[in-house]
Amino acid sequence: MKIVKTDFILTPHKIVSGKAVAFKERVVDIEDLETLKKKYPSATIFEYEKNSCLLPGFINTHVHLEFSANRAALAYGNFLIWLNSVIKKREELVPNCDRKCIQKAIKNMLKSGTTTFGAISSYGYDMIPCVNAPQRVVYFNEVIGSNPAAADVLYNDFLQRVKESKEYADKKFIPAIAIHSPYSVHRVLAKKAIDFAKENGLLISTHFMESRAEREWLDKGVGDFKPFFEEFLNQSIPANRAKDFLTLFEGTPSLFVHCVWANEKELEIIGKEKHTIVHCPVSNRLLGNGAVDLGKTKYLGINLAVATDGLSSNYSLNIYEELKAALFVHYHIDPVTLSFDLIRAATINAAKALKIDTGEVEIGKLADLQVVKLPKDLDTIDQIPLHILLHTQKPDKVFIGGESYE
Ligand code: BEZ
Ligand code: FE2
Repeated sequence: MKIVKTDFILTPHKIVSGKAVAFKERVVDIEDLETLKKKYPSATIFEYEKNSCLLPGFINTHVHLEFSANRAALAYGNFLIWLNSVIKKREELVPNCDRKCIQKAIKNMLKSGTTTFGAISSYGYDMIPCVNAPQRVVYFNEVIGSNPAAADVLYNDFLQRVKESKEYADKKFIPAIAIHSPYSVHRVLAKKAIDFAKENGLLISTHFMESRAEREWLDKGVGDFKPFFEEFLNQSIPANRAKDFLTLFEGTPSLFVHCVWANEKELEIIGKEKHTIVHCPVSNRLLGNGAVDLGKTKYLGINLAVATDGLSSNYSLNIYEELKAALFVHYHIDPVTLSFDLIRAATINAAKALKIDTGEVEIGKLADLQVVKLPKDLDTIDQIPLHILLHTQKPDKVFIGGESYE
């Protein structure tokens, strides 16, 4: 048994003072420290100084580890310019990130308080590092391919990766699937992969309405994607219609990444179907895509998660950086309210999306926790969520399933 005592606990439903938490793999008890010491006299005690705060570990629902070698090789500012640079550079970027490089990215995420992540795997090169990661991992085997002539080959390759990942399935490594996007996965291929996921109870993630180009291409067959598809893939019509694509996910709550250009009707369906929107503000900013309207997603009651995306469209996998960016991107929302919502997005909401019994400091929940130190001169308890984001680069301590990490 371990006991952790901090000045505050952000559960993350509310802020609690004067309590300590006893846990093994799961949280066992929440009481004042003296009571817990009496109840569990042989427990190891972790006691933190004034203005320390315990909160759930962060859950980064969307990262592309295979692209972790990128620093400045890709072109930012416009989605199609970026996509073309990915296609041009991926043959050197992907092999440049060997297992050591992927392990380093995983370690950096751990140091920055990420206790669970959702890895989008394009090739399966990140499978073993994810299997061996200290964190919980939802491993999304991705399928891509807009050309129907190649669908069978691509589906079989995808299925092979899914089957391999299922051999490693355990409580901390959960196989899942990803449909790259409605513009890049032919509707027949998308349906086949989604049906397979439904039959096998696998979680599904997809990029959706990331760019203006995607909106225009799927709606009208025009815009920046038109020359891209005509010249690069010899295609003149989109692989999906947005509405039909959304229908494929009916009855299966899934992760919809970006949704910056999703329209009112699509957002309503996403809400009604209990899907999650995964918000990646840094990636959206760097690729010239704009920002999700968080007022609208909240109004529609949509479950919101926040993620870093990969180093192919970010400078860091530290989720504190992402939350800070979100705080400044959504400048019209009250900063304290927004910080609280963002911390929930990266904990309890993300746990719901990934169907993992964690993301809150609550008796019975998996003990995935982090301790941060707030400034000594903290004055207003209500403002703790904002000060956590402003003053933390990395936590002082991380626990995953009750195991301690520095
Ligand atoms: C494809 O493989 O068909 C594809 C990849 C990236 C963007 C669009 C299409
Ligand atoms: Fe992504």
